[in-house]
Amino acid sequence: MATIRSSGVSPTGIETFELTNQNGLRLEVITYGARLHRLFVPTKKGEYIDVLAGFDDADGYRAVNPYFNAAIGRSINRIRDARFTLNGKTYLLCQNEGKNCLHGGKDGLHGRLFTPTVKDGKLRLSYLSRDGEENFPGNLTVEIVYDLTEKNELVISYEATTDEDTLCNLTNHAYFNLDGDFRSCLDMNVYIRSHKITEADEQLVATGKIIDVTGTAFDFTTAKPVGRDIDKNNYLFRNALGGYDFNYILDEADPSVPAATAYSDKSGIKMTVYTDRPCLQFYSGNFLDGTVKGKCTYNYQSAFCFESQGYPNACNIPSFPSNVLRKGETFRSTTKYLFTVE
Ligand code: GLA
Repeated sequence: MATIRSSGVSPTGIETFELTNQNGLRLEVITYGARLHRLFVPTKKGEYIDVLAGFDDADGYRAVNPYFNAAIGRSINRIRDARFTLNGKTYLLCQNEGKNCLHGGKDGLHGRLFTPTVKDGKLRLSYLSRDGEENFPGNLTVEIVYDLTEKNELVISYEATTDEDTLCNLTNHAYFNLDGDFRSCLDMNVYIRSHKITEADEQLVATGKIIDVTGTAFDFTTAKPVGRDIDKNNYLFRNALGGYDFNYILDEADPSVPAATAYSDKSGIKMTVYTDRPCLQFYSGNFLDGTVKGKCTYNYQSAFCFESQGYPNACNIPSFPSNVLRKGETFRSTTKYLFTVE
């Protein structure tokens, strides 16, 4: 059970909470966008390094940034033409990336202030997304619970209910660098339990095609350095600005086996991700271009993300499993990040 304390409220009303476990693993979470702020992990040398990208203080996250460590919703990833039809009605969402809707729209969950409750060593952040917010139907109640276990796991659990059928595909957009220096993520050794990705076109929107990546540069079933096989002549890498930004369909949605791992030879820190979601977006920070300056300057491919998710753009692709949450149903999902030192 984690020890939790509030470390205060910022000038703009953002509260920060610190969660610490018995091993000294320390997480800071802010109520703005239910974001992870800092996560100090022990290294081989017994030092603690912050593996998350971000800003020096809570108010920093209000500046434009690429969803640093934020809760994402109502619908992660890209929805083609920002449009979907549900129960015979067509909804036009915010076109916040070209004609498409990215990560729930301009003011998705990443920019909302959540209400905190501390109970039983866990931090619960709640938010009511009202009917029509970002043009999504239904009042959606979102609860995100953060826990830091004695096994050095950061556990993020999501629960959502609605009073009208709506889309619900929630995640956290944590940016990691296991060296903590945010120089490059290309040396990190990554494993992903997946043989298939969904094709993304030049706008990075899922087309509906599923590609078997066995034995190709996109195959991470044997751990390898992120940068080893990037081939800028391949259309998929070109679409993804010269790196990885792909939705991996996990071989089985089994939360008891690792979905992915990342390991740094330099720090010896290993992160293992477990999830009950069917897919994982592996993103190698290709949109980072040095313009965001926070705890440090975030250059091209200086950080990576593993975003657990449902199938992207499923609302426009009938063959993909749906992300519709029906009235009366509860969306429940858990993603764990286990930290070990090797
Ligand atoms: C996700 C997407 C990327 C990019 C980032 C935010 O990881 O897959 O294409 O939009 O979010 O910059």
